[in-house]
Amino acid sequence: MAKKKAARSNASPDLDATWKGPCGPFFVSHQMFERGLMTRNDLSILPSQKTDQDALLELCRTAFPAEDLTGLLSELLALEQGVLSLIARQGDQIVGHVILTLETRSSPDLALLGPLAVVPHVQRQGIGTVLVEEGCARLAEQGIKRVCLLGDPAYYGRLGFVQETAVQTPCPIPSEWVIAWQFRALDSSFSPAPGPLALPSVWLKPDYWV
Ligand SMILES: CC(C)(COP(=O)(O)OP(=O)(O)OC[C@H]1O[C@@H](n2cnc3c(N)ncnc32)[C@H](O)[C@@H]1OP(=O)(O)O)[C@@H](O)C(=O)NCCC(=O)NCCS
Repeated sequence: MAKKKAARSNASPDLDATWKGPCGPFFVSHQMFERGLMTRNDLSILPSQKTDQDALLELCRTAFPAEDLTGLLSELLALEQGVLSLIARQGDQIVGHVILTLETRSSPDLALLGPLAVVPHVQRQGIGTVLVEEGCARLAEQGIKRVCLLGDPAYYGRLGFVQETAVQTPCPIPSEWVIAWQFRALDSSFSPAPGPLALPSVWLKPDYWV
């Protein structure tokens, strides 16, 4: 998946504020409160519902105007299991969305994060960060040990992602994107077996990775 397209970590120093959101524990970075970017009452992070699909496709179109990821998103949302789809809701508006896909092993250790999208007019308010943190926290609670993604290191590096060299992408990526293939450890004692990330067939389309 192109880097422009495209996870409670014990490796994150940022998770120092916790409150009970409407859908359970919600982790918010200290910096977001410090910077006044997030208040406790104006944002909810919760799993998406089937009825959110149209809004999520529209969000996808708006956040990625130069490419069409709606086919991928529709297929991911249609998966019955192995996917965590979280929305950020402000009032009655969906303002952000992230999907995390678990590897297809019987006892998954790994997951892929993406696409991640925030409505343009509320970008740079910490919503993308909160979606990533909450996604990682929920997967860690499910026993997932490592989250991979193909994305901009300038953005994801701030969130604790570093270049991945053990787990490989499921399809080839351009050589210049190697540094964009990253991971965040949810269990720092875990070492993955080298090899390609085993993902559902929806992800095994080479076009999504070039
Ligand atoms: C990338 C995206 C999800 C970030 O969401 P967000 O809510 O705006 O991000 P946050 O508020 O958590 O973080 C904002 C910080 O990240 C930085 N940032 C945002 N996008 C960035 C990018 N592509 N590269 C580098 N830094 C980026 C901003 O500079 C900002 O830092 P600053 O406020 O100190 O300057 C959002 O901009 C988006 O939807 N973009 C379009 C779709 C996309 O590119 N998705 C990611 C695919 S890998």
